[in-house]
Amino acid sequence: MTTPDHPSVHPAWLPDAATAFLHGRTVLVAGDGPLAETVRGEARRAGATLVDGDADLVLRDTGAVPGGEGFVVAHRDGRLDVAADDDAALLHAWFHVVRGGTTDPAGHPDARHEPAHALRMLDHWDNVDVHPVMGQVERGYSGGSIFYADGHVREDLSRVEQYARLLAATGVNRVAINNVNVHAREARLLTDGLPDVARVAAAFRPWGIRVHLSVSFASPIVLGGLTTSDPLDPDVRAWWADAVARVYAVVPDFGGFVVKADSEGQPGPFAYGRDHADGANLLARALAPHGGTVHWRAFVYNHTQDWRDRSTDRARAAYDHFAPLDGRFDENVIVQVKHGPMDFQTREPVSPVLAAMPRTRLAVELQVTQEYTGQQRHACYLGPWWSEILRFRPWGPVEGDDGSPTVSDVVGGAGPGASPQVAAARGGGIAAVSNVGDDAFWTGHPLAQANLYAFGRLAWDPTLDPTDVLDEWVSLTFASPSPAGADRTVDPDVRAALHAVLDDSWRTYEAYTAPLGVGFMVNPGHHYGPSVDGYEYSPWGTYHFADRDGIGVDRTRATGTGYTGQYPAPWRDVYESLGTCPDELLLFFHHVPYGHVLHDGTTVVQHVYDTHFAGVERVEGYVRTWEGLRGAVDDAVFERVTERLAEQLRSAREWRDQVCTYFLRASGVADAHGRTIY
Ligand code: GCU
Repeated sequence: MTTPDHPSVHPAWLPDAATAFLHGRTVLVAGDGPLAETVRGEARRAGATLVDGDADLVLRDTGAVPGGEGFVVAHRDGRLDVAADDDAALLHAWFHVVRGGTTDPAGHPDARHEPAHALRMLDHWDNVDVHPVMGQVERGYSGGSIFYADGHVREDLSRVEQYARLLAATGVNRVAINNVNVHAREARLLTDGLPDVARVAAAFRPWGIRVHLSVSFASPIVLGGLTTSDPLDPDVRAWWADAVARVYAVVPDFGGFVVKADSEGQPGPFAYGRDHADGANLLARALAPHGGTVHWRAFVYNHTQDWRDRSTDRARAAYDHFAPLDGRFDENVIVQVKHGPMDFQTREPVSPVLAAMPRTRLAVELQVTQEYTGQQRHACYLGPWWSEILRFRPWGPVEGDDGSPTVSDVVGGAGPGASPQVAAARGGGIAAVSNVGDDAFWTGHPLAQANLYAFGRLAWDPTLDPTDVLDEWVSLTFASPSPAGADRTVDPDVRAALHAVLDDSWRTYEAYTAPLGVGFMVNPGHHYGPSVDGYEYSPWGTYHFADRDGIGVDRTRATGTGYTGQYPAPWRDVYESLGTCPDELLLFFHHVPYGHVLHDGTTVVQHVYDTHFAGVERVEGYVRTWEGLRGAVDDAVFERVTERLAEQLRSAREWRDQVCTYFLRASGVADAHGRTIY
């Protein structure tokens, strides 16, 4: 399970076996750009023979679309001939061929491929220093940071280069390298840390990936010695212009800033009576002359709420703050919106902000790191969840496909009423919080690599079937050793077992944890494991309101917080009505009695019991299925997954028993099937 660069590090989806089909094949790479050189290096590494003339595989940089990332696969004289728009496209084309596992033209239908989104970004919540509470990687479950050690950017960045290669193979083209919560040490990456940032950028550059930094809105005070960071203050503006110029002097292709402002204690424009457009535009204007972008996060809410106050609804906050600002953001501002209105729960509706700002470049933010979905101790393949989100149609229809815009369309700049600027910029794309650390398997749980892989692939093409994406990942990661030049194969038992464990694992996780859209029944702080009332009386705005009669949050216009009114039709009405609200979101939108009957005829409390028992049974099945792979997969992978599945099963039983017991005690309603509830 080793790689040549790091003998102890798992090669993830680029083991030698994945590219053995190219061994001894002739490859022509026509192009002068730096990424063409990267492709030649990849071809050599795969054991292909680079030639100048006739070849099994021809990859040509046509330069037809400067800055373009698309490529055309065609057949010429029975051979594969790929014409790439530009340098970066050449690299995408190479990995496209690698994914196919064959140089046989029959395995590569003629087609043009191009990314649905221009910006496909991973955000690292890494701290340079080890934070006393959060550790080095906030919400990280894969060890320390691959970027930082001992209070500095690592001297040896070869692991970062390897990571960049893996990301390039999925299509990711942007990486933010520090936590959105910018502490004192990390703030300095913008100033005295710049030579180190330049080294990190150099590690990503040959893979077509641009680096971004998270910055503190208070930087002019913290770093510049000013007395204010008021966005309308001329000295503040001048400070940012200077700071940005210094960044571009050493990182000419710097991507821009990520900003968490006025959120969970981070500084922001509110302190000066300014709004988020004032704040974002301040940074945008400093970056604009250099071609940089501001990713300004919409995750703004009151985290010091009084639980007794039933009038404040955290779910409403992002829309209430941001929707009125539509049209006020500069062209190089991207408002980055968490996919749901709360916070990366196992199930949430899609954020209504995504349907409310046609004159603003919007990005949707996903969470690859499994903060609320098992923390990489549980197998939980999130591809199906992201696919649902990206395909969701904010303007309906409720079911089916009438061609109306999806979330993916909106963040691609093609939502209804998109301003010409938003359309021309192709929106703000897709961002996600990375799940990678210095763990030997990259992601703690080896099967969590599938999430990282799927993020890149779905950001490139959100119409891909997530099960097919998983299958690609299996084919690459678990490729069988094969004779040089032979098409790639995978042991069918391994493939079947991985699908059996992962395909539905997100729904399994939902089943034994969070029924019907109820969220936050987790232990406060670290968020692992069950605690039904863990956040019930907290200041975080995260309540389920369970009592002896019922459970759920009334977010209707008729009798609740009015949150349903933030959606356009048909969803504002679909969610408003108990008759039409989808069961999986029932408790997100409604407070109902335990005896309320769901669309499938089960009562709410019986559903809670049934799903928790069924979820545990499915995990028992995963354990048995995986055990069948002993000897069929790499021993180290086998052992690590075995250990994680044992913990998943223990934890799933704990969830089942606590949640079922809580609701039995609260409701007094016995389980119709007479199972043991404590
Ligand atoms: C969650 C998470 C935090 C993170 C925050 C964010 O609240 O628990 O660790 O900082 O999201 O997205 O900013």
